[in-house]
Parts: sequence; structure tokens; C-alpha cells
Amino acid sequence: MSGIVVLISGNGSNLQALIDSVAAGDLDTEIAAVVSSDPDAYGLTRAERAGIPTEVMDLRNVLADGGNRLAFDVELAGVVAGYHPDLVVLAGWMLVLSEAFLEHFPGKVINLHPALPGTFPGTHAIERAYTAFQQGEITQTGVMVHRVIPEVDAGPVVTLERVPIFPGESLDDLEKRIHEVEHNLIVAAVDLSLRGEV
Ligand code: GRF
Repeated sequence: MSGIVVLISGNGSNLQALIDSVAAGDLDTEIAAVVSSDPDAYGLTRAERAGIPTEVMDLRNVLADGGNRLAFDVELAGVVAGYHPDLVVLAGWMLVLSEAFLEHFPGKVINLHPALPGTFPGTHAIERAYTAFQQGEITQTGVMVHRVIPEVDAGPVVTLERVPIFPGESLDDLEKRIHEVEHNLIVAAVDLSLRGEV
């Protein structure tokens, strides 16, 4: 089996965008599997409804069995490699991956992040951008998809989109607009990556 493997940790709205695009024939691939770091992630329900194989890789279990992050990344690489992916897509995956994982999929791992390159790496990026706007430090934020390196939300950019922030808008409004941009950008980034156009 080839296709893409999607790694998630939560709601899975970006996974849903990929599922819908494959179903509509807008993406010429298949989702070979969905791997979640959280057994309770709603994204697993989305995958099961679409008939996609799922796996759970819970770091807590590896640590409880006396393992460490390195052991987790090696085990995760084995699980993902079992699906022979053309591309590994991090769509809301919340753990940093080391070289012990990445070396198995050279140049074939991409990540979605709701901020522009070099800005607001890590969690709560939309909220932090909103606060920076309120303080007059920025006028816009954005969304990027980048190749993954063993660093938080860094690596060569595959594609990005700038998102203006409007005076007086609520954080909730900004988050809604950012997620809409994400749902289109993740599909475009997978398409570009599979065509080798990055
Ligand atoms: C997205 O905003 C993504 O950029 C970030 O985590 C969120 C995941 O959303 N890394 P979902 O689980 O795809 O709805």
C-alpha cells in the first residue's frame, strides 16, 4: 500500500479536509492510515467513519513501559513505515519528531502550522499572534506547511498563505478564518508534495 499517512493529536478538521478532497477526487492519492498520539482524539472517529485504518501511539504508554522519546520515535517510524507512505502529513500532531523518526522518510514529512515562518513556533500560535496584533507588533499572521526538521515548526516552506488581522475582530473570528485557510492549504501542500513540485 502507498498513499499518505496522516499523524494527528486532536479534533482532526484538517484530516477531514484531506479525507473530503480524496473522496471528491481533488487529491490523487489515498489515506493509507491515520496515527494518533491520543487515544481519545476525535480525528480517530473521522478516520474510522471514512474506513481508514487507525493506529494509536501514546507516548505515555512507551514511558510507562520504561521507554523514552527515542524509543517512541523508533516505534512510531516502524508503525508508519508499515504503510509504505509516499508522504507523511502532520495535521495537528503535537509532538516534535527527532532524526530517529525522520531518517526513515527523508524529505517526505510535512507539517501544518498556523503562523508564518519563524513566527510563533509551538502551541497557541493563533492566540499569540492575536495578542501581538493588539499590541501593535504585527499587522498580519498566516498559515504555513513546511518540511519537518528536528525543530519545532521550522524547516523549508512548502507553501504558505498570509492572513490579515482586522481591528476589532475577536480571537474566535480570527481562529475561524485561520482554520478555513488551513483546510485549503493542507490539501494544496499534499498535492504539491506528491507531484514533487516543492
Ligand atoms: C491546527 O490549527 C494545526 O495548524 C495545529 O493544530 C491544529 C489542529 O487542528 N498544529 P485539527 O485537529 O486539524 O482540527
